[in-house]
Amino acid sequence: MKLLTPVRLGALELKNRVVMAPLTRCRCDNAGYVPTPMMAEYYAQRAGAGLIISEGTIVSPQGRGYPFTPGIWSDAQVAGWRLVTDAVHARGGLIVCQLWHCGRLSLPEFHDGQPPVAPSAVNPEWDMFSLTGQPRTVTPTALSRDDIKAVVADFRRATANAMAAGFDGVEIHSSNGYLFHQFFSAQSNLRTDEYGGSHENRARFFFEVLDAVGEIMPLNRVGFRLNPMLNRFHGLNVDTDTVPMWTHVVERANSYGLAFLHLTEPLHPKQVADTPGALRDVGAHFRPLATMPIITNGGLDRDKGEARLQAGLADAVAYGQAWIANPDLVERFAAGAPLNAPDRDTFYAGGKHGYLDYPTLSA
Ligand SMILES: Cc1cc2nc3c(=O)[nH]c(=O)nc-3n(C[C@H](O)[C@H](O)[C@H](O)COP(=O)(O)O)c2cc1C
Repeated sequence: MKLLTPVRLGALELKNRVVMAPLTRCRCDNAGYVPTPMMAEYYAQRAGAGLIISEGTIVSPQGRGYPFTPGIWSDAQVAGWRLVTDAVHARGGLIVCQLWHCGRLSLPEFHDGQPPVAPSAVNPEWDMFSLTGQPRTVTPTALSRDDIKAVVADFRRATANAMAAGFDGVEIHSSNGYLFHQFFSAQSNLRTDEYGGSHENRARFFFEVLDAVGEIMPLNRVGFRLNPMLNRFHGLNVDTDTVPMWTHVVERANSYGLAFLHLTEPLHPKQVADTPGALRDVGAHFRPLATMPIITNGGLDRDKGEARLQAGLADAVAYGQAWIANPDLVERFAAGAPLNAPDRDTFYAGGKHGYLDYPTLSA
């Protein structure tokens, strides 16, 4: 089975092609957004993955959008993440940090009562998760050009902190309706300066961040995530500009020598089927355009993942919910064993239950 064979993604040497997708689990300390020893145990349980992509990790207080999610701007957070990376490495695993800025997908309660920031003052009209009972998003404040430079600097610092914390690389979370996606989409980016308008301009912020990340970390340890067919989600819709925009991003990223492009297939294929400009198979569109290795993701089981590898559509396969429920996913794939079912009620619930207590085959 190709899934179980080693592969090289840039400088990352994976022992198998079964990747753990980034999964927010809301188990971190909410006072300082600091990773906890419990998180180290959770990731260590899953170190059999060829590569772990960490849960979304906030680059600055300004980037916060949810409670109990980890950050990577303070020394205490770096020390917390060091527990995680040491535990994963001790079990022979590899782990990269997913760098995250929520932009307008946030609430004033995370910003001392002020609105969150975004490319333009456009409310995503979305329900978030709130500890204070006001989950509806508000109209964000548009970032000035100096503000944008400061966000780029936050990603540079986050990358340096990720290295200090022992991560093997970083993944830029440039998808799912968050800040980079808000710049890419003309639905949320109404700017008339050099960060808005043409494809090149809407991609400028992303490439400024990539340049800044590359000043700190070799780019063959850096990947990014695109989920172009996540439709009607987080306040952004697929439109006829989505594929041309993201194609521009991928073609321009080719010259960077990146470790990987992480692509998610449509999670709601029926919703996408009737949408003009939508792709039914994201990998089939991007594979011939991209020169970097591809990680595929989204609604795949063992055999569907294997089929995508065999068809040459991807170099590795990321699984999300399967890793939540199966800390020994690779062993189960190897044995053809059944998988535990994930318990959605405990995805973001806090505590050990549904986090550390999924049984392994040998348990
Ligand atoms: C509980 C949960 C948390 C998630 N958190 C993140 C995240 O932090 N960053 C991200 O890019 N995607 C996140 N995702 C999306 C997953 O990475 C993945 O794309 C999705 O689960 C589809 O893959 P699957 O069908 O194998 O589960 C999350 C998904 C779930 C179910």
